[in-house]
Amino acid sequence: MFKDKKILLGITGSIAAYKAILLIRLLIKEGAEVKVIITKSAADFISPLTLSTLSKNPVLQDLSSNSEWANHVQLGRWADIFIIAPLSCNTLAKMAHGLCDNLLMATYLSATCPVVVAPAMDEDMWKHPSTQKNIETIKSYQNTILSVNNGELASGLFGEGRMAEPEQISDYLRYYFYDTAELAGKKVLITAGPTYEAIDPVRFISNHSSGKMGFALAEEMASKGASVTLITGPTKEKLNTVAINRIDVVSADDMYNCCMDRAAESDVFIMSAAVADYTPITVSTDKIKKKDGSWSIELTKTKDILYSIGQQKRKNQFLVGFALETSNEIEHAKQKLVNKNADCIVLNSLNDTNAGFGHNTNKITLLDKSGEMTAFDLKSKKEVAKDIVSFIISKLNG
Ligand code: CTP
Repeated sequence: MFKDKKILLGITGSIAAYKAILLIRLLIKEGAEVKVIITKSAADFISPLTLSTLSKNPVLQDLSSNSEWANHVQLGRWADIFIIAPLSCNTLAKMAHGLCDNLLMATYLSATCPVVVAPAMDEDMWKHPSTQKNIETIKSYQNTILSVNNGELASGLFGEGRMAEPEQISDYLRYYFYDTAELAGKKVLITAGPTYEAIDPVRFISNHSSGKMGFALAEEMASKGASVTLITGPTKEKLNTVAINRIDVVSADDMYNCCMDRAAESDVFIMSAAVADYTPITVSTDKIKKKDGSWSIELTKTKDILYSIGQQKRKNQFLVGFALETSNEIEHAKQKLVNKNADCIVLNSLNDTNAGFGHNTNKITLLDKSGEMTAFDLKSKKEVAKDIVSFIISKLNG
């Protein structure tokens, strides 16, 4: 699969360095040519001899050895891609600030090939504001960040911060090398799932959305090489790729803020979330005790994300909304297209069996602003995602 691909692997000091062995084996087995750079502290976790034996190349560590100079510029030009896995908190900070105190940093700073990193650290370190700020900084330098996994950590605690598995990194590389053509360089913002609107600390208003459609769309978009940010409400769904930037939110207001922060930089928006239309005016800080008689809650309208993006959208941005209707479906969807200034509406009808909320299948009709209308058969949500993404690609190219 990776025949003739030149992969430069940087390994930094983290217990997850052992996974680099498995990654090198996978890459070599698939035909890649692999060169390895390690930092001094990575060598405390993993033996250079193991790495050089597996990669079939000398392992590089120092800027110079035995009066020979390691040509870091040449390394970054030789590689088709530079993967830093695991990326420690320390090297992340150096990348954010341009420090150059070892061969790995010198190579990173002079690399002309794309750089992809797989962070690994404990959850508290990962969530520290300085780490998150450094991640945002290196993202702004056009580096790709593979998501961390949730699970058991070296500290014995469970949480976010586990390095992406070697298979996930290899999947990413497959996307990168072979499926990137159509949407390479496009930034896609997708909303998914329901939102929870708090009434008090234990109760909320929500709906039956599972998030499945939005997750399938995010994976399909990523498989075409797009850089995808998925903003999702509470859901049990998991992503099968680490190439997607997943942001979890709870309320409609959180989702709105998260989307608006990223609206200017996105090329395509797919608003598949079932955002609550109303939210309680006040949220009780204490659990509301039951009383005799009826109870009513005063609600106010949430901010409409699709509408807001439609209002500020530039000519070269493509906006897709969803409509779930029970009557006069086409007419309502056409109105939504105009009212929200969308480029396309994906219409689901609750009258179709096995389509819509919670199901693994969906039946859609796509309406676009030129008046074109295409109805599809009942299909798995993964297949539906393919239809929607193909449609968007045809419109972007048209
Ligand atoms: N949407 C949104 N923000 C909201 C509400 C909805 O972005 N606060 C988006 C959904 O993600 C979806 C589309 O708007 O893409 C659905 O439109 P909406 O007006 O919410 O449809 P309905 O709730 O069915 O509203 P109506 O009663 O007007 O038909």
